[in-house]
Amino acid sequence: MITSEELYFDLPNFEYDRDTLLEISDEYLKPQYSDIHRLSKVLGRKDTDRSPHCLMFFNDLPEDFRHLPLISDIAELFSNVGSQSDGVEGIYKRLFFFNVKDQLEWHIDDGEDYAVDPELGLNHSGTAYSGPHGPTGRSFGFNIPIRGCAEAPTCWMDKFGGDIICEHYYTSPALINTEQVHGSPDNQGERLFLSLGGFYEGLRDVKYQLIREGKVF
Ligand SMILES: [Fe+2]
Repeated sequence: MITSEELYFDLPNFEYDRDTLLEISDEYLKPQYSDIHRLSKVLGRKDTDRSPHCLMFFNDLPEDFRHLPLISDIAELFSNVGSQSDGVEGIYKRLFFFNVKDQLEWHIDDGEDYAVDPELGLNHSGTAYSGPHGPTGRSFGFNIPIRGCAEAPTCWMDKFGGDIICEHYYTSPALINTEQVHGSPDNQGERLFLSLGGFYEGLRDVKYQLIREGKVF
């Protein structure tokens, strides 16, 4: 039976400038920069369903935000995690805003948008992601809450259509397992995150690595 230790890990000491992320999303979270189709494919929902969720990649914005301390802070945090050890450039192209408008359907994070290299669906060494869901996807995400993320829990199921096995409320940035069936069935309003794609390691392994390195506590 999978345990909560494999499903999430909070990083309360990871500091970030939330106001800057809000400013960027206020400026750019618009149809010309964001994409509702990518996420709809993963969630199996029609683009026309209700208010569409969307993904917006830093890399697709007309302004360059590589200089943000947040980017180098994330690169430093994961500098010894294989899937993320390519530094600021790699981190930057895998970072996206994730905007949920209402209930988040049960799903796993499969698809090229979550891969280590979003363009190729390959990890940094050129090997296809070898997780349980095929050549793309991610094993977990590093999610940074920006707005409206604490009201409803993220939940995990043991399988599609199965039992809810764990709930998590965001109080800080967190590693969130995305290869186990998950969703937020009680969410009613908007929630906005920054999320990092590309991980293929086990969440628990990375958790203990970060603790050993003294980067989290
Ligand atoms: Fe997900």
